[in-house]
Amino acid sequence: MRIGTIELAAPVVLAPMAGVTNAPFRSLCREFGPGLVYVNEMVMATALVYGNAKTDRMVQFGAGESPRSLQLYGSNPDMVGAAVSRLGDEGRVDHIDLNFGCPAAKVTRRGGGAAVPAKPRVLAAVLGAAVRAATPFGIPVTAKFRVGLFDSLRTHVQTGRIAADQGIAAVALHARTAEQHYAGDADWAMIGELKAAVTEIPVLGNGDIWEAADAVRMMAETGCDGVVVGRGCLGRPWLFGHLLDALSGRPVAPSPDLGVVRTIMARHGQMLAAHCGEEMAMRDFRKHTSWYLTGYPVGGDIRRRLAMVSSLGQLDDLLGELDPSLLVVPGGERIRRGHTNGPIRVALPDGYLDHLDDDTMPDDGDVLALSGG
Ligand SMILES: Cc1cc2nc3c(=O)[nH]c(=O)nc-3n(C[C@H](O)[C@H](O)[C@H](O)COP(=O)(O)O)c2cc1C
Repeated sequence: MRIGTIELAAPVVLAPMAGVTNAPFRSLCREFGPGLVYVNEMVMATALVYGNAKTDRMVQFGAGESPRSLQLYGSNPDMVGAAVSRLGDEGRVDHIDLNFGCPAAKVTRRGGGAAVPAKPRVLAAVLGAAVRAATPFGIPVTAKFRVGLFDSLRTHVQTGRIAADQGIAAVALHARTAEQHYAGDADWAMIGELKAAVTEIPVLGNGDIWEAADAVRMMAETGCDGVVVGRGCLGRPWLFGHLLDALSGRPVAPSPDLGVVRTIMARHGQMLAAHCGEEMAMRDFRKHTSWYLTGYPVGGDIRRRLAMVSSLGQLDDLLGELDPSLLVVPGGERIRRGHTNGPIRVALPDGYLDHLDDDTMPDDGDVLALSGG
């Protein structure tokens, strides 16, 4: 599969996950699955345009990382265009993904994020502005979105068509509505519908790929061209190796024993510390410890202590207490991790749905940080 000029070893993309898919996490995943696309944490177009130290730190790629893939959030065409131009001028990225799936009330109540696809003219303007700004630099732009705001307003097919018409290089569908948030199962039939309607660019399916066999099944059931994998790789970076094997028709190894897992945990902790300093790294790594141990019957005490880890030395000591021979419990790979909450009440501007052909651009020019999509 290709995204613009980027050729992938297998049709697999790491989902952008705010607070997770930073340079160390991507490079750890890439060690298991070379040749795939690993998308950076989402950054705000506004913060990039106005220059924001935290955002600049977030737009960091590993030495030799290729492709350098970044997700941008923005709902205003001028702002998104300016952010893309800046990234292009500074030669900072090889691929830009646009996020139209963010259900945060802070943005949807102003018509931004997941509310944008409900207004086709606004959506087309944002997509078009990004593509026009990226084209001189040869940067492919992709778009990621949900099925719609609610079941009664499904917009995925229309969104995919508009994206293809605006020159978007590939689309990815998280097969849930904004209202659903992360509850229930992703509705893969929606991915099939999108694929049937959008034939000129790759269509990627997203939602509930926990094991490599799920990716094979999603592609077979929906006809999609590739997959985007989020929560399934939390605490399981080796999933990308499993995905490469499964999609190349090779046998897939079982999940590693805890001895291997703790070696990977130690390495992840060290990589994070080299990236942002030991103190911040350990604070960030706490959430990863619970994901790494999901499905391994280690007991609550060590989980609690790892969830408070504050130094690399302490991490090593605690990892040393884990029984290396423990195996994941049957079905442990499928235990949900990361976000699981929902449904939510979607916040929208008053009367937002009364005129869907309206082209008033949302003003989220002061949104400098968001915590996910
Ligand atoms: C911690 C976390 C942060 C996320 N942040 C983003 C984000 O910044 N941008 C985005 O498009 N999606 C974000 N998502 C959604 C994922 O990219 C993905 O669409 C969703 O988790 C469904 O896929 P999965 O079932 O493979 O996890 C986030 C998900 C999680 C769990």
